[in-house]
Amino acid sequence: MCGIIGYNGTSDVAPLLLDGLEKLEYRGYDSAGIAVLEDGQIDIVKSKGKISSLREKISKTHAPKGDIGIGHTRWATHGEPSDENAHPHYSASRRFAVVHNGIIENFATLKADLQKKGYVFHSDTDTEVVAMLLDENDNGNFFETVLKTVKMLQGSYALGILDANDPDTLIAVKRSSPLIVAVSPEGNYIASDITAVLNHTREMYKMNDGELAVIKPDGVTFFNEDGDPILKELQHVDWDVHAAEKGGYEHFMMKEIKEQPDALRKTLSPRITEDNKIKLDDIELTDEQIKGFDRIYIVGCGSAYHVGVVGKYVIEQLARIPVEVDIASEFRYRYPLVNEKTLTIIISQSGETADTLEALREAKRAGSRTLAIVNVVGSSIASEADDVLYTWAGPEISVATTKAYSTQLSLMYLLAIRFALAKGSITESYSQELLTELQTIPDKVEEIFKLEPQIERVAETYTYLHHAYFIGRNLDYAVALEASLKLKEISYIHSEAYAAGELKHGTISLIEPGTSVIALCCCERLVDKTVSNAKEVLARGAQVFAVANEGNESVGNICDHAIYLPKTNPLFQPSIEVVPLQLLGYYTAKARKCDIDKPRNLAKSVTVE
Ligand code: G6P
Repeated sequence: MCGIIGYNGTSDVAPLLLDGLEKLEYRGYDSAGIAVLEDGQIDIVKSKGKISSLREKISKTHAPKGDIGIGHTRWATHGEPSDENAHPHYSASRRFAVVHNGIIENFATLKADLQKKGYVFHSDTDTEVVAMLLDENDNGNFFETVLKTVKMLQGSYALGILDANDPDTLIAVKRSSPLIVAVSPEGNYIASDITAVLNHTREMYKMNDGELAVIKPDGVTFFNEDGDPILKELQHVDWDVHAAEKGGYEHFMMKEIKEQPDALRKTLSPRITEDNKIKLDDIELTDEQIKGFDRIYIVGCGSAYHVGVVGKYVIEQLARIPVEVDIASEFRYRYPLVNEKTLTIIISQSGETADTLEALREAKRAGSRTLAIVNVVGSSIASEADDVLYTWAGPEISVATTKAYSTQLSLMYLLAIRFALAKGSITESYSQELLTELQTIPDKVEEIFKLEPQIERVAETYTYLHHAYFIGRNLDYAVALEASLKLKEISYIHSEAYAAGELKHGTISLIEPGTSVIALCCCERLVDKTVSNAKEVLARGAQVFAVANEGNESVGNICDHAIYLPKTNPLFQPSIEVVPLQLLGYYTAKARKCDIDKPRNLAKSVTVE
C-alpha cells in the first residue's frame, strides 16, 4: 500500500526522500514521486513504475534541490498506475503539494463541487481533491487552511502537505492510515513506518487518528482535530537497522525464512519462565476471566487468518472453549455475536490492516475483551486493543509473510496452554511437558533447512505448472491453507487448499494426468486417511509430493516425491511443517523468475478496505 516519507531539516532532501521510499518499497507500489520546496516554489518529479524509474527520470531531467520535501510510493486505488496519477499532487495554484495514503470516500462529491467552481483536475485520484480543497480553503494561514480542509474529508488518510508560501513548515495529518513522526538533531521526518527512517533515527511519535503534526526543521508540535495543541510521548524503537536490509540473501523472503528459529526464540523465551511457567507480558487476564469466556473469536486477514485456523484446532482441543475464526473483512460486517463473554483475538503483523483494525473496533464496541497479536510496536491495533502480545519477529519486508506467521503461531500455542490451565482442562504437568516441547521448535525448524536442496528440486518441477492442490486433514489442512497462499501469491500458480476428506465432494473431478497435488501427512492420527486420499488422486494420474513425519517413510512408497520432518507434539507440528512449504513457494517462484519480495498487485500493508 502507499508509502509516505517527508523531511524538514538541514540536509539535501531529494536523496533522503528517495532512500526512504526504497525502504518503503516492501509495502507494494506501482509509481513513485517526490516534491521539494525551494525559493517559494514546489518542484515535483514523479514516475510510473519502480523507484529506479523515478531515479532515472531525475538523473535525465534535474535533481530538485532543497531541504524540505515529501515523497510517496503509490498503490493504485482510484485511477490506473501512471505518471499523472502518481503522487505528490499540486493544488491548482501550485502553492500546495500533497501525498496521501488511504481513500477519501466522499471525493466524488467534493470533486464535482470543485469542478463546478472551475477547478481542473489532472488525475483520476481521490488525492487531488485534497490539493484543490487547500486552494479553495486558503486563508493565508497554512495550519488553518489544512485544519479546515481536513474537516471536509471522509474516509482514511495519512497526508503530508507542503505550502510554497510557508517554506519552514511541513504538515502531517492522520486518520485510519498509518503515520509516524520521527525526530533527529539533523531534521524531522514523517513516514508510513519507522523502517523508512531507521538509518537516521530511532526516536518517533506514533500519530493517532484525528491528529495533526506541524513539522519544523528544529521541532515538532502536535494538535488535535480542533487545532488545540497536545502532548505526545516519544518512543524509542529497538529494531536493528540491518534487520531491515537483505544481509547477503538474494531476497528478503529467504532471509526472513532463515530468521525464523531466532524470531521464535525471541518470541517464546521472554514468555516462558525458568520454572517452565507462562508469563504473558503484562496481560492481566485472570483465571476467573478466562473461565468466563464462553467463546473466542480469532480475526485476521491473509496469513494472520490462517494462524487463527490453527488456533481454533489447538485452543478447542486443549482448552475446550469454542473458537470461531473469521476473515476481518467478513467479521466486521456480519453483526458478529460478540459480547462481554467473548474474547476477540486480533492477529496482524503490521497492526495497520484496515479491515483488521475495524474488526477490532467492532468487537470493542460490542463489549468484547480484545487481545492483539502484533509485530509492529505502537501500531494502531497494538494501541487500541485491550491487551497486546508482540511477536518479536523484527521488521518483515517481504510481502509474503513467513517469520511473522511463525511467531504468531507460537503465541497462539502459549495462549491455548494458558487458557487450558485456567479452565483446568489440562494438568500442570502436561502444561510443563508442552512448554518444554515448544522450546525445541526453533531447533527443529533449523533442521528443516537441511531439506532445502530436495525442496528446490521439487520446486523446479513446478516451473511450468498451472494448478496445484494442497490437501490435508485437521492441522494439516490449516497448514495447507497457508502453504497454498504462499505458492500462489509469489509464483502466480493457481493453487487451492482442500480438507482432504472433501476431495470426493467435487474437487476430485479436477484431477487428471499430470495434476500436481501436495499431500500434507503430518497429522499422525489421520495419516492413513490422508494417504488414502493421496492414493485416490494418484490413481487418477496426479503427481503427488508428500510431506510427512520422520518414522512414516512408507508414505514415500506411493508418492512421486516425499520429505520427512522432525516430529514434535502433534499440536505444534504446523510450526515445523509450514517451513518446507514456504521454501517450496520460494523456490517455485524463483524457478519461474518471479519478483519474489514484491509480487504483482500485492501490498505488504493493506491499509484500505
Ligand atoms: C497482506 C500480506 C499478508 C498478510 C496480510 C495481513 O495480504 O501480504 O502476508 O498476512 O496482509 O496483514 P497483517 O499485517 O494484518 O498481518
